[in-house]
Amino acid sequence: MDVGAYDDELLAAIYDDDNPDGADHDYFRSVADEISAASITDLGCGTGILTVTLAGPGRIVAGIDPAAAMLARAESRPGGDCVEWRLGTSELIDREANDLIIMSGNVAMHILGEVWSSALRDIARGLKPGGRLVFESRNPLAEAWTKWNSSREVRNTAVGKLRETETVSEPDSNGIVTMTCSNDFIDAGRIVETTQRLQFRSFDTLVRDLTAAGLRVVNVWRSWDRTPFTGKASEPLMVIEAVKNPG
Ligand SMILES: C[S@@+](CC[C@H](N)C(=O)[O-])C[C@H]1O[C@@H](n2cnc3c(N)ncnc32)[C@H](O)[C@@H]1O
Repeated sequence: MDVGAYDDELLAAIYDDDNPDGADHDYFRSVADEISAASITDLGCGTGILTVTLAGPGRIVAGIDPAAAMLARAESRPGGDCVEWRLGTSELIDREANDLIIMSGNVAMHILGEVWSSALRDIARGLKPGGRLVFESRNPLAEAWTKWNSSREVRNTAVGKLRETETVSEPDSNGIVTMTCSNDFIDAGRIVETTQRLQFRSFDTLVRDLTAAGLRVVNVWRSWDRTPFTGKASEPLMVIEAVKNPG
């Protein structure tokens, strides 16, 4: 399990400022509204910045994440008492209970190898017939990792000055890219070393994996405004909507 880059209170403390609410969250909320989802699970909910905004009258919302530091922030944020938080992974999804399961912020890419296959089975089992899974993943053809090697200037964060130094590998034969980062929290007097592994899956691989789990891909977008994805290297984002086959 890859929680190393998140399960630290300093990293969790800067997460929301680095990943604010935006067009991606608007998209996830609009899907929930369009399908009148009464029960939603946010898998890999992190600090819950999106999760709490999904909650509302007549809706049951659960947020699941294996990083305790992230979940602690989720629980204590305004609106946190309207969500059921669970520390763990996909095995904690309630069975046949969800109209909608989401994975935002490229959570899918954090779930590697065989764990991905079992997570998709848990997701399929967790959806009601006709229920929907929505998530995004990066298109490997766009080779985002080539732009990630960096040594940044010192920047100001909610917990003081921070200097990050990242190293990124080329993908291995399974499309897994390893990122190591040294986070020097200068004012806090602590250096947090993280290793993060992200799996880049092609569109065809995603369709194959979802189909094997009993999920049918119904839409793929290349942007949060729902422009169709056509498979080109110039389209870095794949937003996938899949439906649980009835029966
Ligand atoms: C980039 S964050 C995204 C958080 C949140 N969904 C958002 O959009 O802000 C990735 C999250 O995936 C979680 N994660 C890592 N491995 C996971 C797994 N096997 N199952 C569920 N979540 C996982 C991490 O703990 C982290 O909180």
